[in-house]
Amino acid sequence: MFKVEHYSGNKAKDYELMLKQLEALVQGEQDIIANLSNASALLNQFLNDVNWVGFYLWKEKDQELVLGPFQGLPACIRIKSGKGVCGAAIKEGKTQRVEDVNKFPGHIACDAASQSEIVVPLFVNDTLFGVLDIDSPITNRFDDVDQVYIEKFAETLQQHLLLKTE
Ligand code: SME
Repeated sequence: MFKVEHYSGNKAKDYELMLKQLEALVQGEQDIIANLSNASALLNQFLNDVNWVGFYLWKEKDQELVLGPFQGLPACIRIKSGKGVCGAAIKEGKTQRVEDVNKFPGHIACDAASQSEIVVPLFVNDTLFGVLDIDSPITNRFDDVDQVYIEKFAETLQQHLLLKTE
């Protein structure tokens, strides 16, 4: 059974604890949908002030992202490279941290409540795998510490997916 931790309020420490929870959750499990589902659920219970947490997976054949496991309201299903914040993350191959989505040209509003967003591209064996996308109803929700640890979260998942695809 998953144990809900009592986080300390020290942001970096709490993120470290949550990363350990992630490692425990994915360890020994190879199913991608199961692991991404649990990863989105873990982040959703850990992060305050977020309204959407989930994954879009890259479909090479169709050259677009398709909605994957998530927590939040039903969302747009397909996103082309270069479109929206998610499309920018895969086109540029780097994290997009958007303080105010209303000022991001081409932002795709799946949930009208979203005000800020962070999207981290995921690569497995140097091949684009998809993105981790987190939305907040608060402007400028994500700071440098959030970015560092959300990227570590993505890295941990990537390493696990890497092991499983070899
Ligand atoms: N806002 C994203 C679309 C996905 S939703 O936030 C779930 C974007 O602009 O790419």
